[in-house]
Amino acid sequence: PAEKWRGDEKLFQWKGFWFRLQYLPGTRQVLDNFKPLPSDVILASFPKTGTTWLKALLYSIINRSSRVCLRTTHPHMLVPTLEVQLYGTHQESFSTFASTRSPARILATHLPHQLLADTVKPSDCRMVYVTRNPKDTLTSFWQFVLKSRSYEEPWPLEVAVEKFCRGVVPFGPYYDHVLGFWKESLERPEKVFFVTYEELKDDTRTHVKRLADFLGCPFTGDGDEEVLEEIVIGCSFEELSNYEVNKSSEHSQWMKLPFSSFFRKGDVGDHRNYLSNEMVERIDTITGEKFHQSGFIYGIN
Ligand code: A3P
Repeated sequence: PAEKWRGDEKLFQWKGFWFRLQYLPGTRQVLDNFKPLPSDVILASFPKTGTTWLKALLYSIINRSSRVCLRTTHPHMLVPTLEVQLYGTHQESFSTFASTRSPARILATHLPHQLLADTVKPSDCRMVYVTRNPKDTLTSFWQFVLKSRSYEEPWPLEVAVEKFCRGVVPFGPYYDHVLGFWKESLERPEKVFFVTYEELKDDTRTHVKRLADFLGCPFTGDGDEEVLEEIVIGCSFEELSNYEVNKSSEHSQWMKLPFSSFFRKGDVGDHRNYLSNEMVERIDTITGEKFHQSGFIYGIN
């Protein structure tokens, strides 16, 4: 089934999740053809939960530096998204990407684990999943759509909340997406690293170290403390959002959005500036039903 969600865009439900029509062919290509290498690192996320930040961090951790590349290249160009850039309509050459990126290929996806499992499990690759509390994710998403598109039709917050709660947003439902990776991280902690936007914000250094350990490239050598420090600062919202490339109104061929649209505030708790008490109550109730009843105690504060 299809559902109109804003302006002239329709979302299509496929295998329990909602997709924009433009990403469905790429999604099917990924599921049919993508064979991860055991050395691949795949960043998975629901949109607006910290994908851009994690792309910058993973690239920097694996390549042991941040500033040089990040100053000149947008994180979304350093770490391509499978269903958009590599298998989507605006395909880059996958072989070029594979041969030029070392020591590991870092790839990203918004696809849920429920769909990806048959692709990633047999390959033994590592996955990193970032999530963010539902109210900030929704707020970030609402602002992103509001600012980055120019439809005549309005996009009131009430509509965004309604769609989010019903799961009718790209790659939604959010709750099923998060739970899929959370459960997998409990079952296969050596292959799936689960981290929240809030814990990363609270203590970036500790979690970047944990990430590096998970990826098999710990910060334990001579001079690594300085490298770690440089990466934490170089990928912080304050620095990253101020690089010219990330402030730019230019966009890539595949992404009809300015590069700057992936950087807004970068705060925890920004939903308090927008959501009414009723909205908060409604979302918290669903969070309780979906997350807490599954044993995942997260997302109310
Ligand atoms: P806000 O809209 O709340 O500011 P994604 O990359 O998944 O699309 O998520 C975008 C959100 O992450 C935006 O949140 C954006 O500002 C924030 N963000 C981008 N880079 C960040 C960074 N380096 N540190 C923290 N947050 C960042």
